[in-house]
Amino acid sequence: MRDINADQNDLMNESMLSRNERNGQGGRHPSRLDAWISTLDHSLRTLAGVAPMSRPTPQATQPDEALTDAQRREAAALMRVNHVGEICAQALYRAQAMTTRDDELRQHLEHAAQEELDHLAWTAQRLQALNDRPSLLNPLWYAGAFAIGTVAGLVGDRVSLGFVVETERQVEAHLDSHLTRLPAGDHSSRAIVAQMMAEEVEHADAARARGAVELPAPVKGLMRLAAKVMTTTAHRV
Ligand SMILES: [Fe+2]
Ligand SMILES: [Fe+2]
Repeated sequence: MRDINADQNDLMNESMLSRNERNGQGGRHPSRLDAWISTLDHSLRTLAGVAPMSRPTPQATQPDEALTDAQRREAAALMRVNHVGEICAQALYRAQAMTTRDDELRQHLEHAAQEELDHLAWTAQRLQALNDRPSLLNPLWYAGAFAIGTVAGLVGDRVSLGFVVETERQVEAHLDSHLTRLPAGDHSSRAIVAQMMAEEVEHADAARARGAVELPAPVKGLMRLAAKVMTTTAHRV
């Protein structure tokens, strides 16, 4: 009777061989199935809140002031909205990375997604410190954003990048308004939002530099409407 490890090795060799044949490039590129599995794994980790941060949370330069309960609730509601925004950013970037056929663009999108993963972790941590919870509808937001990202990616790379530019521009405007709305004494939330805002601007600039097209006004309007529904709901739920 053959050793079970030998059988497993044969199976792995066969699978690698067929994958190499499919790619015709010595297996340097992952197959579509690999990409789907990796994306699914990533999606589940994102929703489970176990995504690790690669950079420390931005720190305020002065200590937080004591918040009233109403101020704490408002700060938490805004950070929950930002957390949902980052859930959507993960879904969009991962869907777009999966649909592009340009390896270099895929790497760029994955790098941006990694920075967004830090944003996700920072906002989650702040929500916890404010004694509050993420949106209960996160799986729904993720699925919706993933669907939109997939459609944008399938239309073409320059449209997909145009979508990144418009999304980042809208997120930047939201974060800017949050800097006005957050309680003045909540320096920790402010430090996180300010750092995120600076990076969203960089993401938009990078997408523009890669040849993003300007999206038509009705598409931008629809995106604003979708964002309005999301932010209004996430403020509470
Ligand atoms: Fe972000
Ligand atoms: Fe971003």
